[in-house]
Amino acid sequence: MKIERSEELFRKANQFFPGGVNSPVRAFRSVGGTPLFIEKGEGCTITDADGNSFIDFCCSWGPLILGHNAAAVREKIVEAVASGTSFGAPTRKENELAELILTNHRYIEKIRFVSSGTEAVMSAIRLARGVTGRPLIIKFEGCYHGHVDSLLVKAGSGLSTFGISSSAGIPESVAKDTIVVPLNDRRALEIAISDFSHDIAAVIIEPIPANNGLLLQEESYLKFLRDITRKHDILLIFDEVISGFRVGFEGAAGYYNIQPDIITYGKIIGGGMPVGAYGASKEIMSHISPEGDVYQAGTLSGNPVAMAAGFAQLSECLQPGFYADQEARTIAFVNQLNQYSTSKGYDLKVFSIGSIFWFAFTSLDAVRRSDEIDPNSMNKFRVMHKSLLEKGVYLGPSGYEVGFISAAHSTNILERAVQLICESLDVVYSASSEGITKI
Ligand SMILES: Cc1ncc(COP(=O)(O)O)c(C=O)c1O
Repeated sequence: MKIERSEELFRKANQFFPGGVNSPVRAFRSVGGTPLFIEKGEGCTITDADGNSFIDFCCSWGPLILGHNAAAVREKIVEAVASGTSFGAPTRKENELAELILTNHRYIEKIRFVSSGTEAVMSAIRLARGVTGRPLIIKFEGCYHGHVDSLLVKAGSGLSTFGISSSAGIPESVAKDTIVVPLNDRRALEIAISDFSHDIAAVIIEPIPANNGLLLQEESYLKFLRDITRKHDILLIFDEVISGFRVGFEGAAGYYNIQPDIITYGKIIGGGMPVGAYGASKEIMSHISPEGDVYQAGTLSGNPVAMAAGFAQLSECLQPGFYADQEARTIAFVNQLNQYSTSKGYDLKVFSIGSIFWFAFTSLDAVRRSDEIDPNSMNKFRVMHKSLLEKGVYLGPSGYEVGFISAAHSTNILERAVQLICESLDVVYSASSEGITKI
């Protein structure tokens, strides 16, 4: 595989950007090697600067549910650009996207568009604090909510603890407004709530945690969250930046039939353009300015080009059978991989939901908490990632990241991918039996 051009571009990028990238995971530090500089995407394929092509399972980390360069989206973007790219005044396109979403979604009544998932979550937290007049937030170890100061925290020692910032630059005074509890642990949440119930504004969770492996929660646990928060007048925030419009048009709320108080979105909602959003009941959203006293604004919020892209993509998602078809192709793909792994006695499990999947090198039947992931298993992922690149399959460059299947991943392509992944698994397990993966 040729890599000279990507290497040259990366050398140059290092002169401009910290670590040579504009978002850390892109630097390939978890898997080693040089990040590939992508020139073009078409359907489920990406092509890099050296002319190598790959079946892409990263899909821009989730937004591209129709695949790359989908004609339906591209045409609407081009059409919108021809009328100007930004006005800082309302446009009809905001109404159109909002109407499309709200008329097909039973769990939110009003919405506000922003420009990223991080911004959506940051605004949702402020809204929850504004509505309740309380300061504290509970989050779960192993859930990621963007680079919001108060949520870039990890647990200290103990069952439910005030957060310790997981990034430099976040004052202790901010971190201590967040309580961190383990996923799938009712007792820990009960303790946190009984200790601080009158000060807790919200519990925030990725209902389908997909940023630290795919830590699928039991439906009964998510229902427990709903019940306990309601009982204590604490708002429940579903961060659906990944799961929203992915596991169904109504996201995890619809999948599990749970009514959260606030839902955040990003990724798919923008059709590959920078869009985030948060939504809730009319009553809760009435607290947002200019109607209410919770301030939140954005120069490029509701950008017409991005709205057009989102509208085009979500219209396709609403076609009958869209999600069932996505899920069916994903299940077939995952089943073939699991069958191969079992037949060979490998400890690889592929977990999935909707069109999200994750390679877990584990002997456990279910992985629901971040501390159930063995960090050493990432050595196997490194070997697999490298081997797959050489065979023409691109996975996000970290074993903690999930993969995505788009509408452009046909059954034929997926069968080809299964074959290549199985070959790579053989490389992984022959390497590990020779001790090569012990780093
Ligand atoms: C669940 C979740 N919330 C929030 C974010 C932040 O979104 P963005 O990267 O658009 O700021 C992400 C990003 O991956 C995410 O997965």
